[in-house]
Amino acid sequence: MEVATLPAGRRPAGASGTAEPGRLRANGQLRPRQRARAAQRLEKAQAAASIALGAVSSYLEAEMELPAFFSHLAETVAGLVGARRVAFLRLSSAGNLVLQREPYGFPAQSPIRGLRIEAKPGDDGIATRLVYRDELDIRGGTSAALDALWQEHGLHGIRNSIAVSWSAGDRRIGALAAYDSKRGFTNDDAWILRVAAMATGLVWQYREAEEELDVAVERLEEAMAARRQLLANVASGGDEARRRFASALHDDSLQLLTAAELQLERIRSDSDSKRQSAQLDQLALTIRKVEDSLRRLLSTVSPEALDLTVGLKEAIRDRLETLRVQTGIETDIDLRFPDEPTGEVESMVFKNVAEALTNVQKHSHATRVRVAAAALDGGVVVEVSDDGTGFVVDECLYVPGHLGLLAMKERAQLAGGWCRIVSEPGAGAKVEFWVPIT
Ligand SMILES: Nc1ncnc2c1ncn2[C@@H]1O[C@H](COP(=O)(O)OP(=O)(O)OP(=O)(O)O)[C@@H](O)[C@H]1O
Ligand SMILES: [Mg+2]
Repeated sequence: MEVATLPAGRRPAGASGTAEPGRLRANGQLRPRQRARAAQRLEKAQAAASIALGAVSSYLEAEMELPAFFSHLAETVAGLVGARRVAFLRLSSAGNLVLQREPYGFPAQSPIRGLRIEAKPGDDGIATRLVYRDELDIRGGTSAALDALWQEHGLHGIRNSIAVSWSAGDRRIGALAAYDSKRGFTNDDAWILRVAAMATGLVWQYREAEEELDVAVERLEEAMAARRQLLANVASGGDEARRRFASALHDDSLQLLTAAELQLERIRSDSDSKRQSAQLDQLALTIRKVEDSLRRLLSTVSPEALDLTVGLKEAIRDRLETLRVQTGIETDIDLRFPDEPTGEVESMVFKNVAEALTNVQKHSHATRVRVAAAALDGGVVVEVSDDGTGFVVDECLYVPGHLGLLAMKERAQLAGGWCRIVSEPGAGAKVEFWVPIT
């Protein structure tokens, strides 16, 4: 870091010819002894500044927690400016200077820990002038205005003190204060404080940027988890609704009908009238028809779950055969599943194949469809392709209310795999997915 980036007026006396005019010769030059002393002071101050900078970067590299970082830095700065105590004071969001833990040289019960000094950009108090304008008047080894400020806020027994603005670029972070120097504070000490405050400002900015990044990453992860959860619900939502409807149909309506049939049977056997018995026969027939039609409804609304009694291969073969019969689309099938996919994987594969085939049936106008499966990389890769009209994938993937393609992708992802949908208008469509077999 360039020490030379400090404003010229902030450099130690002698560093840029800003020594007091009275000490200048008529030609504007310093006397040789004065020059030698100024050069010495400059050298000392620069050495101290480079120690401060070195300390900031080495503490930073050690990846300390912030309290430890500030406590080490405060101690180093105290040594450099001959102070018994040093504290970083941070500007809170409410515009108060509060302690940035940990300070150096203050006992655990010191009132500095509860310090709260108002420093609003608009007012003209010493704290505001210090933080926003970096104004400091050092006379007789101290800043009397600052000493009074500490006193006013309960920090008694401060012998002398100086403080500088702690900032990063235009951003005001707070102030860096040093207290109790045996020899009294000088402008050179203030200059060293400024170098330390400037270096710490950069660290602060860096930490803030890091924290913002962490927060952003966290939010992104939360959003992604929520989205995954949502899509998991979407992917199974239809199934869930259909399952509830199917079980109500099965357990409720169909059982009531069966009960009605039995009652009817009893009435008919009790009845003597031939005419009435023919009517009852007719009624029984109607009830059976209603029952049949409800059973058909049941088989269509049941979620497309895999019938484990026939197994995955057979279930896909059946589904493809139904499609051929209903649409006349020619079918190709080449299923080479690895051994024993788990029930969950089988069910997931079947749901995706069934959705892809339903899409072919509903949308593709294809003449041919092919379903292929093979073992790949510890999982199974499945492909459903047709030679139909095709579609623009990006346009069709996120259409409100149309969830089939999205659900296929999400099911594969939730199972730890992937799903690719490849299609172009006029070039057919291909759904390909891979899931691990766990
Ligand atoms: N094989 C295909 N051939 C042609 N177009 C297709 C094919 N598959 C999907 N599409 C197009 O992509 C759109 C989205 O498909 P998706 O499966 O997501 O929804 P959907 O089938 O319309 O409704 P659902 O939510 O009941 O599945 C379809 O509306 C259709 O326009
Ligand atoms: Mg669909």
